[in-house]
Amino acid sequence: MTTSFKNICTFTILIFCVAVCASQNLSKSSREKAIERKADSVLKLMTLDEKIGQMNQYNGDWEATGPITYDGDKQNQIRKGMLGSILNVTGVEHTRQLQEMAMQSRLKIPLLFGQDIIHGYRTTFPIPLAEAASWDLNAIKLSARIAATESAAAGVHWTFAPMVDIARDPRWGRIMEGAGEDTWLGSLIAKARVEGFQGNGLGSLDALMACAKHFAAYGAAVGGRDYNSVDMSQRALWEIYLPPFKAAEQAGVATFMNSFNDLNGIPATGNAYLQREILKGKWNFKGFVVSDWNSVGEMIPHGYAKDNYEAAMEAVTAGCDMDMESRSYIKNLSKLVSDGKLNPSLIDDAVKRILIKKFEMGLFDDPFRFCNVEREKQQWNNPSNLEKEKQMAEKTIVLLKNENQILPLSRQTKTIALIGPFIKSVRDNLGFWSYIWPDDTARIITTWKGIQEKINKDSKLLYAKGCNINDSSTAGFAEAVEIARQADIVIIQVGEAPDMSGEAKSRSNIHLPGMQEELVKAIQATGKPVVVMINAGRPLIFNWTADHVPAILYTWWLGTEAGYAIADVLFGDYNPSAKLPISFPRSEGQIPVYYNHYNTGRPAKNDNDLNYVSAYTDLPNDPKFPFGYGLSYTSFSYSDMDLSGKSFKAGDSISVSFNLTNTGKFVGTETVQLYVQDLVGSVVRPVKELKGFQQVVLKTGESKKITFTITADMLRFYNDKLEYGFEPGDFKVFVGSNSRDVKEASFALIK
Ligand code: BGC
Repeated sequence: MTTSFKNICTFTILIFCVAVCASQNLSKSSREKAIERKADSVLKLMTLDEKIGQMNQYNGDWEATGPITYDGDKQNQIRKGMLGSILNVTGVEHTRQLQEMAMQSRLKIPLLFGQDIIHGYRTTFPIPLAEAASWDLNAIKLSARIAATESAAAGVHWTFAPMVDIARDPRWGRIMEGAGEDTWLGSLIAKARVEGFQGNGLGSLDALMACAKHFAAYGAAVGGRDYNSVDMSQRALWEIYLPPFKAAEQAGVATFMNSFNDLNGIPATGNAYLQREILKGKWNFKGFVVSDWNSVGEMIPHGYAKDNYEAAMEAVTAGCDMDMESRSYIKNLSKLVSDGKLNPSLIDDAVKRILIKKFEMGLFDDPFRFCNVEREKQQWNNPSNLEKEKQMAEKTIVLLKNENQILPLSRQTKTIALIGPFIKSVRDNLGFWSYIWPDDTARIITTWKGIQEKINKDSKLLYAKGCNINDSSTAGFAEAVEIARQADIVIIQVGEAPDMSGEAKSRSNIHLPGMQEELVKAIQATGKPVVVMINAGRPLIFNWTADHVPAILYTWWLGTEAGYAIADVLFGDYNPSAKLPISFPRSEGQIPVYYNHYNTGRPAKNDNDLNYVSAYTDLPNDPKFPFGYGLSYTSFSYSDMDLSGKSFKAGDSISVSFNLTNTGKFVGTETVQLYVQDLVGSVVRPVKELKGFQQVVLKTGESKKITFTITADMLRFYNDKLEYGFEPGDFKVFVGSNSRDVKEASFALIK
């Protein structure tokens, strides 16, 4: 450390401590200014190479039990201050080792440790798409909070989450990582997740920096094929794909990640419109943008840059502050500056943004503040986190069908046959983007274990795997049929393997894989009552099962406590409350199928209407299960829908009310949904748009008046000039238990 820096450093640390101590009294903006001054003071001391080093991020070759990085060269670069951040290194011991190397560099600028903490760390929560099915924003926030607490205790500073990409195509494997098809719900969930990860704010020892990704429109990849191009109208971009990013930004998200796709011909990583004009311009985002993995270098195969030199120039110019793993910045930025191709002020801007986050995290104050062995131990096996995980998992299980009230099962049931490739599977419960730990087999709760611990002593469980997830063998069918015959009830658990949905896991065929639906048919043919549970990271197609099996639960990938959550739902200790955050297609040929589509000039009157209308001649237009759908063991009736008036003016509001009654035999939670349709607009409007929901708990026979208030602001949309506003006119309003089964009324917005 040079003397001059030492003085400045001591000075900045002093100021920082004073700032932290006095933080209660300081306004947010004066804190921000103080940190900005500190970042400036560090920036002044840096050489161009050191600045470029801050914009560089490498992978740490981390495995749960493996080394921190095999690469001696990377270690040297850390010692020279040529690395701003490293990903995929966790654990107090490992992060401390690397941070110590960074402390050997001239300016001792601390490293940021980034990691994909997508749905948990030690405790794995349900996959994000499943969590979205809970429609429970507090629970979603809590899940992110716990993930942050556990991973921050293990040295992680920064999660590459939440993924807030709206996705309407279940062939796209990354659909499992988002909140589904609806922009409004997705925006609320984006906010909840950012708030959960960032907790009481950067600098708290249990807060991670969150990262809104993938900016932007990654979920609209053509054909649902991962990394594919995106071509969309400006209105679709602004109305459907950008709002969850805006919500994350407004919630204070620390960072953004750009995306692999090109958007209307310009790769997102080199897209100045997205990153400079919208994000850092219109939205005034103060954090920094990281590229996706090698996405800077991938502008070469995109055909947008000739080589890494050009790619680096395009990316920095467009506003991408940190290069994840492509090494384009580290190798080319210096030359780009000396060649006069890149304005060094852009480098300063990027580095300052990165330094500010390091200050906000308190890392200049103490680079090892997230390296506390005791805290790591405390969070390693936290029983309360497991309990919360189970509760979250229960909220995500969707009851798709329950004819003759087969569910919930009685604990008195004598013999239960458990069949299928998931009944005893362990890590399959975690899904993509989860961490594997050496003791997983002992601690992950299988369906078998969950049910075994739930049943009475004199009940008996029988087991047969029946078939594998994805092959053509039916050799196990006979044994499965045999035990089904001996049972009072049969529970079959089928689905897709965790590596079938996720990054680079697009599928053109999203039917139940392998022979699993044939297995269901064989068991159903025994005449025994059958319950099917489906594990998956996306909407699968299982029409035969949906049409013939009396009871179906969608069980996604539920996480560490999966088996307990499943058993609670099967035996009625938890009454299902989840609602689908995405439409389930009848066939791949229907994709994309989503509830908030336009009406067209020739809408079909019904499924049989094929008279030159907008319809498939071989398939109904509507999905197999609509957005917002999900049953309960009890039933709810909607009655007496009423509006507070016939019209209202901007500035006023109108109320919609109705009575919700629990008409069934169990206490239950209903997520009542409010949709609106703008009947005539200067641009066409969707047939329905979600505008509100409430989660209502009712006892048997109980009734409650539910009220929603509609304001003109809720009716805003982008017109063809991209102006965001409402237009007076006639509207329909719908209330109901999903996007299909609704009651409707009308109102007008007047001038
Ligand atoms: C993914 C990102 C992820 C990154 C780091 C990329 O391949 O697209 O979402 O955060 O890898 O693991």
